[in-house]
This record gives sequence, structure tokens and C-alpha cells, in this order.
Amino acid sequence: MVREQLKGKNIVITGASGGIGAEIAKLCAASGANLILLARSFDKLEQLQSELQQKYQVKVDVFKLDVSDTNQVQVVFQQIFDTIGDIDILVNNAGFGVFREAHEASIDEIKGMFEVNVVGLMACTSMVLPKMRSRRFGHIINIASQAGKIATPKSSVYSATKHAVLGYSNALRMELSDYNVQVTSVNPGPIATNFFNIADEKGTYVKSVQRFMLQPEFVAGKVVDSMLTKTREINLPRWMNMGSVVYVLFPRLFERIGKRMLNSK
Ligand SMILES: NC(=O)c1ccc[n+]([C@@H]2O[C@H](COP(=O)([O-])OP(=O)(O)OC[C@H]3O[C@@H](n4cnc5c(N)ncnc54)[C@H](OP(=O)(O)O)[C@@H]3O)[C@@H](O)[C@H]2O)c1
Repeated sequence: MVREQLKGKNIVITGASGGIGAEIAKLCAASGANLILLARSFDKLEQLQSELQQKYQVKVDVFKLDVSDTNQVQVVFQQIFDTIGDIDILVNNAGFGVFREAHEASIDEIKGMFEVNVVGLMACTSMVLPKMRSRRFGHIINIASQAGKIATPKSSVYSATKHAVLGYSNALRMELSDYNVQVTSVNPGPIATNFFNIADEKGTYVKSVQRFMLQPEFVAGKVVDSMLTKTREINLPRWMNMGSVVYVLFPRLFERIGKRMLNSK
């Protein structure tokens, strides 16, 4: 499906070497966008670059970037501005989780998750804000999670990072509302990607949520459909979002009843 509004737009995707990021890249390429793909695995980026260039004849640039290295974030974004031009859409997708109870999480894991999921996302956003504000045009899409709406046992740190992403996105949306720059948060439930190779080493969580698992192509389609629209949030699957509504209204009851189910990691 071709999304006409994306034709010729410059779209930056962090964490584009696999999972949802790579699927978003494919759909944007199919709509004729120019892609700028960022991740640490440069070989995978190059592979995706040649696949997309051959299949869709679009311009694809790739840069090696660890988003937790904020100096490198500045260097890479400056290179993008100098060699490619303005960024129309930024998809902050890079992220990871390690599912552990708080007492088991090491300080390095805690720092690592915050540095990538939160500080890295904010660093990339900071780089595009001045130009988007002055051009009065742009869209920032932050991939958060349902874990950013409902904190669940064994993902205390990961949930905290995604709550931070939602808080940041909500404030940012209001700051940018007079500048025609859109901010969309994406809150998926479990998606069948390599995310769980790190998050769920034992495979117990994957087993218990297998029947709810979303496909990355489906999530990517919803994200790409939202591009350059005023979509505030994407919550997937829809029924899961009902849980967060009930949680806000009846937190004590929700935690009592939901504890066992939410603890299935
Ligand atoms: N899968 C799920 O169930 C699920 C559910 C809700 C939300 N999410 C969120 O969705 C996003 C994408 O996850 P996914 O499911 O597609 O997982 P994935 O398949 O593991 O992909 C993660 C991507 O992030 C990149 N990445 C990780 N650390 C990075 C860093 N320090 N700097 C730059 N890139 C980095 C990885 O590339 P390199 O390793 O090459 O750097 C990879 O391209 C994440 O933010 C995740 O929290 C996932």
C-alpha cells in the first residue's frame, strides 16, 4: 500500500537493523520515502539498504549509531543535516528490556535501559527539535510500550523507562502544538521480534503471551499509517488498552486481581 504523503520525505528510524524498525523502513520505502537508518549493527543496515534500494528505487542512507552515546548522536545527526538535509519524521524506535525483579536488576542493566530507551530517545529528539520548530513541520514518533501504561512485575526497570517515554512525549506534544510538529506515542503489547532474546532469556514470558503476540509487520503498518497525521497514541492490541483505563480508575483492585496474570514472566 502506497502512502502518498510520505513520498520524498526524509524519515529517520533508530534501531532499524531488525524487528519493528526494519518493518517500518520497508513500508516507508514502499511509499517512496527517503530513509536514514540508524543502529549499531552496520552489516544488517547495509543489507536492508541494498534490499530497499533494489526493490523500491528509493534513497537509503545508513549510519552506525549507538543512541546511548550522546556525543555520537550529535555527530551523526549533524552529518545527516549536512549531507542529506532536513528531517521530516523521526521514529525513536531503538530500545531493549531485561525482565527481572527490581532486586535482581544490576546497576549496569538499569543504567543501560535508561541510557538507550530514555536518554538516547531524548538525545535524538533534541537534535531534530530546533529545525522542526523553525520549519513548523515534522513528526516525532516514540515507540514506548503497554509497559509504559501498566507497570508489571519483573519489568520494573523496563516499565519505568517506558513510563518516562510517555511522560516526555505528552509534555513535548503540548510544547510543539503551536509549531505544527506532531508527537505520537506507540504502545504495543508483546510483538514477535528478537526483543525477547534479551528480555526473556528463559522463554517463560514468551510462552505465556504467545497467543497475544502481535506481528511486527502489523505494528509497523499502524505506525506508518499515523505518519504526518495528528494521531496522539497508538495502543495495540486495542483490548489491552482497556486494562490501562481500568488501572487508572481502580488501581488497588487492578493490582490485586491482575497480579497473578501480570506476573507470568
Ligand atoms: N517486542 C516487543 O514485545 C515490544 C513491545 C512493546 C514495545 N517494544 C519496543 O519496540 C522497540 C523495538 O523493539 P523490537 O521489538 O523491534 O526489538 P528488536 O527486534 O530487538 O529490535 C531492537 C532494535 O533496537 C536497536 N538497538 C538496541 N539498542 C540500541 C542502541 N543502544 N543504539 C541503537 N540501536 C539500538 C537494535 O539494533 P542494534 O542491535 O543493531 O543496535 C534493533 O534494531 C523497542 O523500543 C522496544 O522497547 C517492543
